[in-house]
Amino acid sequence: MDERERVQEDEAKGPPETDPRIAGERHPVARMIGIGILASLVGIAITLLIDWFPEPAAGSADKIDDLYDILLICSVPVFVLVMTIAIYSVVRFRAKPGDLGDGAPIHGNTRLEVIWVTIPFIMVTALAIYGWIVLDDIEAKQPNTMVVNVTGQQFTWTFDYPSEKVQTGELVLPVDRPIEFKIQSKDVIHSFWVPQFRLKSDAVPGLTTKIRVTPNKEGHYEVVCAELCGIGHSTMRQFVRVLPADEFESWISDQKKAAGGGGETSAGGGETSGGGEQAAGASGEDLFASLGCSGCHTLAAAGADAKVGPDLGKLAKAEATANFIQTSIVDPNAKITKGFNPDIMPKDFGDRLSKQELDALVKYLLESQE
Ligand code: CUA
Repeated sequence: MDERERVQEDEAKGPPETDPRIAGERHPVARMIGIGILASLVGIAITLLIDWFPEPAAGSADKIDDLYDILLICSVPVFVLVMTIAIYSVVRFRAKPGDLGDGAPIHGNTRLEVIWVTIPFIMVTALAIYGWIVLDDIEAKQPNTMVVNVTGQQFTWTFDYPSEKVQTGELVLPVDRPIEFKIQSKDVIHSFWVPQFRLKSDAVPGLTTKIRVTPNKEGHYEVVCAELCGIGHSTMRQFVRVLPADEFESWISDQKKAAGGGGETSAGGGETSGGGEQAAGASGEDLFASLGCSGCHTLAAAGADAKVGPDLGKLAKAEATANFIQTSIVDPNAKITKGFNPDIMPKDFGDRLSKQELDALVKYLLESQE
């Protein structure tokens, strides 16, 4: 008897009788569903008890947390149901020792197939609509929005307030004011992430990505790069400070003063070049911080401990000269310290710094030798 004849014969016999292994059991399916529901409730309770995210600090954060909870409530039972059926079947219907026979042939079950297509379709569609509503809400234009340009580059973030003509290495925001971030990259793909704001957006070379947020809690949070972007990826972390509106205003005016009475350090990107009027200019220490040097270098005097580039507080005797330091800032490939690689440090600091700023930075580094 070949395979086809055997199948035809099985079909002629009609549906197989109840499996002898559950023959004596009443309502085996109901029992399985009961175990599934119980396990789902336990699973949902556990996932909702877990603290998945840090303290929320923006208006959108609560909506995103609710969305996440709903997703958990919907997806945990699906996972648990599938696993319950799989484990139950493996345990209940395993072959007895010595049983080498085939199982009963199964040729589809229309009712079951309709159910397992319809329920997931309805769930996924409903969740997609809910997610779209939340996203639309978060991305809605708000009055009195302040634009902040965010630029990623190996391995630092710079923040630029175009309405104030201020550029810094620390992100400072007023509380309860809508912010629109316009995110760019100078080299590779980075990802701008503030966990407490629940916002994350890639910085892609050649593109400007946008994201809106309204910080609603004063505090000090971390700005993290969330995309593997090279050797210094893990050091690409800075801070965001959310301040009351009046403190933010005085911070902004301090920054303007530091940049030299309304002038500013030219903004790399080129669209807001203020010209060379930085008479007083920022101090070397401020420049070290705002240019993001600490993203790559160690400098004990500045509390920096990154190891992508050489330790700037421990230059060799022959290197600790103004001439050598200046050359290394404006032309980083001129001399590469043993053990480090060329083409990692940006080559545009010479364009971004005025003569006075470059001198101040060189002087600061000379004074910071250990
Ligand atoms: Cu930039 Cu990781």
